[in-house]
Amino acid sequence: MTAESVGPLAHESCKLREPPLAGGAVPVLGHGLKLVRGPLAFMSRLRDHGDVVRLKLGPRTVYAVNTPALTGALALSPDFKIDGPLWESLEGLLGKEGVATANGRRHRRLRRTIQPAFRLDAIPGYAPIMEEEAHALTERWQPGRTVDCTSESFRVAVRIAARCLLRGEYMDERAERLSIDLATVFRGMYRRMVIPLGPLYRLPFPANREFNRALADMHLLVDEIVAERRASGQRPDDLLSALLEARDDKGDPIGEQEIHDQVVAILTPGSETVASTIMWLLQVLAEHPEHAEKVRTEVESVTGGRPVGFEHVRRLAYTNNVVTESMRLRPAVWILTRRAMTDTVLGGYRIPAGADIVYSPYAIQRDGRSYARNLDFDPDRWLPERSREVPKYAMSPFGVGNRKCPSDHFSTSQLTLITAAVSSKYRFEQVSGSDDTTRVGITLRPHRLLLTPVPW
Ligand code: HEM
Repeated sequence: MTAESVGPLAHESCKLREPPLAGGAVPVLGHGLKLVRGPLAFMSRLRDHGDVVRLKLGPRTVYAVNTPALTGALALSPDFKIDGPLWESLEGLLGKEGVATANGRRHRRLRRTIQPAFRLDAIPGYAPIMEEEAHALTERWQPGRTVDCTSESFRVAVRIAARCLLRGEYMDERAERLSIDLATVFRGMYRRMVIPLGPLYRLPFPANREFNRALADMHLLVDEIVAERRASGQRPDDLLSALLEARDDKGDPIGEQEIHDQVVAILTPGSETVASTIMWLLQVLAEHPEHAEKVRTEVESVTGGRPVGFEHVRRLAYTNNVVTESMRLRPAVWILTRRAMTDTVLGGYRIPAGADIVYSPYAIQRDGRSYARNLDFDPDRWLPERSREVPKYAMSPFGVGNRKCPSDHFSTSQLTLITAAVSSKYRFEQVSGSDDTTRVGITLRPHRLLLTPVPW
């Protein structure tokens, strides 16, 4: 049996073992405290204990998968579905009927509805909006005036997702409202996921009230967007029209709740992830002026000094590699979970039906066994001749298999365009009060990145 082997027990002939228990468990809490106190360091050390290990989180046993090959095998195997604490927390707050939390046939149908909006040939249609938003950022920023990268990154991410996928001018002010709501909702969701205090979150503390207000406003906004599109009588060729016209397996129109949850399931992952990645890109440009300078030089040579546009993106090889390397070291989605649907096998170990499995793209993408000088920021490792050395699935910030993020092309196009647009105008310096240490939440991002743009 190979290290990647995966499959229902019935097909396995070898004697199966339980994965080893990761070291460092303490009575009662198991590994829980370590995971809460230093989740990134904890996940990054697990491979030293084995390719697959057991973790004790209080009374629960969770399985952690630690090699690139096995994360690929996990993501591609039909024996595992989307479930577990991360998804339960998302589902409880954002709705049960969207694509991100569905499984099986239902997932396939929901995914078919949204997929055309993200196809490679659909992306050029979004070019004018992406360009406008990328350049609007540089026009808003003033030389020497501090930029609060958290709100600016959220703002541009929400505006691009909402304007491209839901269309309509009315999105302009709503995108602002949505970005403020989502920042609060994601903060509260992470707290509820890692510290499950149940009924305490229903008490009228200011933080709970703020969370409930933001969540209610986000749902209200989505209802307003859907109602206005219907009232307009218009059917632009966009994702919202596709959702409104979708049919269920019997060919009947889908229900209001599903339409609502689908819009939420697209807007929420689409904004927090992109926003976090933009924050890290800005941090990289400030921390590594030598790379910022190379990006600027490349943009100038490709555009001939004209404003960078979508048509240049494919030729911005170095800028693309800066984006990829930034996503390697700081993947927005740092942890993923699955649940075993049946007694099965992973890497030669027995995994019982119902078990929760976790893996960390952060740990996988920083592992010294996959990358030379693994912690160095080195965009050139993505040059074609060098990238061939990277083991399969050792770089999968968008996931793998049928749950892979539908938005990989959409996201990388806008990230490259934004990086090119801001770098061609400014270099960046961190200012006093800025804190670029990693804040662990549903996504990874800097705690509070404050930069000043300095003209070249
Ligand atoms: C840097 C940006 C992004 C990153 C790193 C990212 C990453 C991911 C990852 C890792 C997954 C889950 C894969 C899994 O469970 O195996 C995912 C799922 C998903 N993402 Fe993204 N994402 C990004 C941007 C977006 C955007 C912009 C949108 C939409 C506008 C989006 C929509 C979704 C949806 C709908 C799913 C669920 C797919 C399914 O279950 O079939 N993502 N994303």
